[in-house]
Amino acid sequence: MKYRIAPSLLSADLSRLSDQIRACENGGADLLHLDIMDGHFVPNISFGPQLVKTVRQLTRLPLDVHLMITRPERYLEQFAAAGADYICLHGEATPHLHRALQQVKALGCRPGLALNPATGLDQLAQVIEELDLLLVMSVNPGFGGQSFIETTLTKIARCREMLRESNPDCLLEVDGGINRDTIARVAVAGADTFVAGTAILGAEDIGVAIQDLRNLLPPEK
Ligand code: DX5
Ligand code: ZN
Repeated sequence: MKYRIAPSLLSADLSRLSDQIRACENGGADLLHLDIMDGHFVPNISFGPQLVKTVRQLTRLPLDVHLMITRPERYLEQFAAAGADYICLHGEATPHLHRALQQVKALGCRPGLALNPATGLDQLAQVIEELDLLLVMSVNPGFGGQSFIETTLTKIARCREMLRESNPDCLLEVDGGINRDTIARVAVAGADTFVAGTAILGAEDIGVAIQDLRNLLPPEK
């Protein structure tokens, strides 16, 4: 299994965005995570396709766009045009999840499904074969800097089992409260892709922070 580290730009200092993205690249980030919040699906508002487009111009790293917005199908085209590689949706946000995932694919992007901490795995079972990314939220979406919810670990393990059976190439990403205290346990539970905002962009040295997290991971199998 190859591990991937995905710094979340929600914690970036936007006045120094290009320096911070370069530091992520030089520090060995594998993808960049962009949190899109609409103040409706989640209580916070962050940024939209324009910032994704700006980031696209600043890096060749794959862009992992996490849509925390109601009716994401209305904006898929815009995020695809802005340069998203992965587009990840919450099942609660759309009445037609399967169709929305198909739309992401038709736009030339890689579809992802995000699961809130209280969301079960029934819907996942219905669409698992459509996914390139499964994102397990380990905090309630909306804000950076929250504490990791421990019960997520059993869910990650269950997701890994389901993927092993039905879609072994799909990434299993965990998002929320990932730091030096939690990353190893999350990897042991079965995740391969780790989003970290505060622990990377909030650190004094972005490169050192990425390396510190990577050093805590078990050997790649
Ligand atoms: C939260 C976002 C996360 C956030 C994680 O709703 O989905 O991607 O940036 O932040 P940390 O790593 O600080 O928990
Ligand atoms: Zn996120």
